[in-house]
Amino acid sequence: MEPIKRTIEDYDQIAEEYCKKTEEEGDREFHERMLDRTLNFLPSEPRVIDLGCGDGRDTEYMRKKGVDVVGIDLSGSMIDLARKKYPESAFIQADMRDTVFPDDSFHGAWASASLINIPKSEFSRVEKEVYRIVEPEGIFAFSFKEGDREGFEESVVEGHERYYSYYTLDEIEDELNLFDMVKSERCPKKIFGSDFIYCWARGKKR
Ligand SMILES: C[S@@+](CC[C@H](N)C(=O)[O-])C[C@H]1O[C@@H](n2cnc3c(N)ncnc32)[C@H](O)[C@@H]1O
Repeated sequence: MEPIKRTIEDYDQIAEEYCKKTEEEGDREFHERMLDRTLNFLPSEPRVIDLGCGDGRDTEYMRKKGVDVVGIDLSGSMIDLARKKYPESAFIQADMRDTVFPDDSFHGAWASASLINIPKSEFSRVEKEVYRIVEPEGIFAFSFKEGDREGFEESVVEGHERYYSYYTLDEIEDELNLFDMVKSERCPKKIFGSDFIYCWARGKKR
């Protein structure tokens, strides 16, 4: 079965438990600083898409800051959970590789720990879609697991496997074709044994 399909089927089974565990394990204070930095790159009252929003935690955070934000996730269970937890935020079940949004819909895209589930061979497809839906010279902010492997592995919830792609910072810079890296920062705390790097990239001139 295709890695993303199998991974999403797994998230569908464990959405609630998974989100609870990541909430307990994450470095919330650092993460919110990274979100605030992302908003600082954007104009006032920005339009933002939260790619692979999970239970909608970051979508809600941005909405409360006055951002016109929509969270998308391919897992129906994640979207159900997000709508239940944060009824005032907007959520849509969609694939970040091929969204329904018109060109130039957003000032920026935020992908927190969601590119980690995209096989490396599909990274450029996601990048192309983000480039299409963000305005010229818009911001693509994302975090990823540091390393150099990819494949199915058990993580967070015992007995459940999902597809993970790890990158080095050099590798991710090489992968970016339509965006230029502006800044990066490593999370000071390992999350479930992994180092996470946050990146901010700006769309190349069209
Ligand atoms: C590790 S979770 C991160 C969730 C949330 N962004 C966070 O920071 O807690 C990855 C999320 O990406 C979603 N996802 C994976 N592949 C996707 C795709 N192709 N399109 C949309 N969402 C996807 C998964 O369903 C899952 O909710």
